[in-house]
Amino acid sequence: MAETREGYVPVTGYRLFYRSFGLEKGLPVVLGLHGGPGATHDYLLPLADLADRGFRVVLFDQLGCGRSDVPTDPSLFSLEHHVQEVEELRRNLGLGRVHLLGSSYGGLLALAVALAHQDRLLSLITVGGLASVPLAQAEMDRLRRELPPSVQETISRCEASGATASPEYAEACMEFYRRHLCRMWPWPPEVAYSLGMCQQRPVYPLMNGPSEFTMTGTIRDVDLSAQLHRIRLPTLVLGGRYDEVTPKVAEQIRNGIPGARGVTFPESSHVPFWEEREHFIAVVSRFLDQVGGVSKP
Ligand code: ALA
Repeated sequence: MAETREGYVPVTGYRLFYRSFGLEKGLPVVLGLHGGPGATHDYLLPLADLADRGFRVVLFDQLGCGRSDVPTDPSLFSLEHHVQEVEELRRNLGLGRVHLLGSSYGGLLALAVALAHQDRLLSLITVGGLASVPLAQAEMDRLRRELPPSVQETISRCEASGATASPEYAEACMEFYRRHLCRMWPWPPEVAYSLGMCQQRPVYPLMNGPSEFTMTGTIRDVDLSAQLHRIRLPTLVLGGRYDEVTPKVAEQIRNGIPGARGVTFPESSHVPFWEEREHFIAVVSRFLDQVGGVSKP
């Protein structure tokens, strides 16, 4: 078992909760960004397996999420602020140049960080990540139309009447999530916990919307696709065959970033690090070994 540490780090005037796996000096660092926006780091815990492959892994809860501080000013819950937060956390933990891995919205955030601070990164990995929220939304609309008609009807009715906090809506959402978010059943407790926390904090309803497939929050128009060509980092674009953030969305990132490579996990949806854990860790560690690099602060 790799040596671990957890605690709080001051970032932009607030305290963020973080966990670090593999503390041996000189190891290249993989910094993981969770999605939601508004989930927690817990569902990314399989990434800690990389600590047994010679990497240090750092995960944290973004501002307003999980065990991190929840400020009252909602203007702090934005992609711009998250970019600043990632950069400041990297500096304050003395991580040096990092391999940045983002899942889902964390993938969008990783792209935004790369566009702002590429010189601080060794490489970029997105997992179920997106460059364009409108494209991801159009694809989710398509997947939603594949649900049983009665489920679609419940979803539409609850959304039209504003009953998105009802058990009925939650149950209908699970039909989608079991197909496109995590295909293991029962879900790993960490996945259930992270998704549950989305509803316990202000970030998810504000930035994302009422559910994974209805992104009506403040990120709804974000589209970085036209800027991807500026990213000059070794890049790995990952996703699942059944991913709610579909292979078409992954393809846009792969085609946009010069030299980017991609892998689609055949038995997975949105969390291949759970659904095909060993395969996932093997793919990522092979990529990281090829990139190389030392994360000297
Ligand atoms: N709501 C999607 C996520 O999981 C985009 O981050």
